[in-house]
Amino acid sequence: MPTILALDQGTTSSRALLIGADGRVLDSAQEEFPQRYPRDGWVEHDPEAIWDSQVRTARAVLERAEETPAALGITNQRETVVVWDRKTGAPIAPAIVWQDRRTALECRRLREAGHDALIAERTGLLIDPYFSATKLAWLLDHTEGARARAEAGELAAGTIDSFLLWRLTGGAVHATDATNACRTSLFGLDAQDWDDELLDLFRVPRALLPDVRDCASDFGTTTREALGVGLPVGGIAGDQQAALIGQACLAPGMIKSTYGTGCFVVLNTGGSPVRSGHRLLTTVAYRLGGKPTFAVEGSIFVAGAAVQWLRDGLGVLDHAAETEALAAQAKADSRVVMVPAFTGLGAPHWDAEARGAIFGLTRDTGPAELARAALDAVAHQTDDLVAAMRADGGVIESLRIDGGMVANDWFCQDLSDVTGLPTERPVMTETTAMGAAMLAGVQAGLFASLDEAASLWRAEKRFEPKIAAHARKARRARWQDAVRRTLVS
Ligand code: G3P
Repeated sequence: MPTILALDQGTTSSRALLIGADGRVLDSAQEEFPQRYPRDGWVEHDPEAIWDSQVRTARAVLERAEETPAALGITNQRETVVVWDRKTGAPIAPAIVWQDRRTALECRRLREAGHDALIAERTGLLIDPYFSATKLAWLLDHTEGARARAEAGELAAGTIDSFLLWRLTGGAVHATDATNACRTSLFGLDAQDWDDELLDLFRVPRALLPDVRDCASDFGTTTREALGVGLPVGGIAGDQQAALIGQACLAPGMIKSTYGTGCFVVLNTGGSPVRSGHRLLTTVAYRLGGKPTFAVEGSIFVAGAAVQWLRDGLGVLDHAAETEALAAQAKADSRVVMVPAFTGLGAPHWDAEARGAIFGLTRDTGPAELARAALDAVAHQTDDLVAAMRADGGVIESLRIDGGMVANDWFCQDLSDVTGLPTERPVMTETTAMGAAMLAGVQAGLFASLDEAASLWRAEKRFEPKIAAHARKARRARWQDAVRRTLVS
């Protein structure tokens, strides 16, 4: 059976998965790499650590594989930017990660100067440090000589897919795909290319940027030096768009919600971009044969990271998985509400300056109540996004869910209760890697179309809402009150 190698470069780990043409995961390897928090609100990655961990996992899987995969697909944490030297391939500075808030002031300046409307109209995005453009300008302004070198064409920049692709192809290909490009604030949704006016506004020289291609394209071939074997790179998509594809949400109205470090709810809206009136993002879901399919996205910065904080920050857990049993033990009358705004609040609030808070603590609050509040917070934030999508006219009848947190049945049920929606967990939960593999498989001719690959999708379990409407309403009111008290701007 032909296979595809999918590289999934996430926020906290690099993974490589060998996926069969029947949609099964045949092998995988994973490596975590260090997170750096040099100042309040700053989050950095060492691009070399990303590269090393990604190559090690890919090589581990390739060494164990019986046959050479037919193709390679890349999916990645989005918005995070790297700038590197075109001659040596060496990064000029640490990568600035999507969660990083260092450009909050610059974003406020852009908002106050009235640039919101132009940016929203061209890119489908809001002005927020989340997106790449202000991070890129920051790197050019704060690394000695970088701006002049960028203008002279000596430097290259890109999101993580682009950096990996450059390295994998030995510097032969400097490209990205439309789903990653559209998260930079520099890419015109209608033109489907870099926008000169936005490049001027954000002060990013065009010479720095990669070529933008379809998600299933010829992205070159890996060098033997990189992976020990020449594999055609045929698919690239940002991880949330890849998960939408992996969840087989290929028709307008289909929606998925992924619970990793953050949570990203993405609704397929079809061939023309739908503009949100409720501060959601318009984004490219995928682009094939030059034809974009669009989506509306709600992005929450902290999901699994709230559980991670209970484990690593507070030390009330040894393993994230313990939250399942703990949450079930929480006192039924607990009114603890956690708003995990550790790096501000994303959609639909977009408050970069908000910070986390816990309300309703009593003498008998313990790890169980905190665990439940952390899981509840993720469910409530999903509900906020679903409400915004509905207010925009979206008809949402169920949610396809994936990501690390959905192994937790208590959380899946809570999500269903809080949102009032049935939630469906697929058999193949590696939806992100699957999306990248589907794209690379289409390019390699293993699948006649994305639709054919999507027919492999199966539900493993469906959770139905179980709580009464009045209980749901009361919980929602408590959550909304807590959020109101946390907002700064
Ligand atoms: O937009 C950021 C997102 O792509 C990160 O995803 O899975 O690494 O938390 P993840």
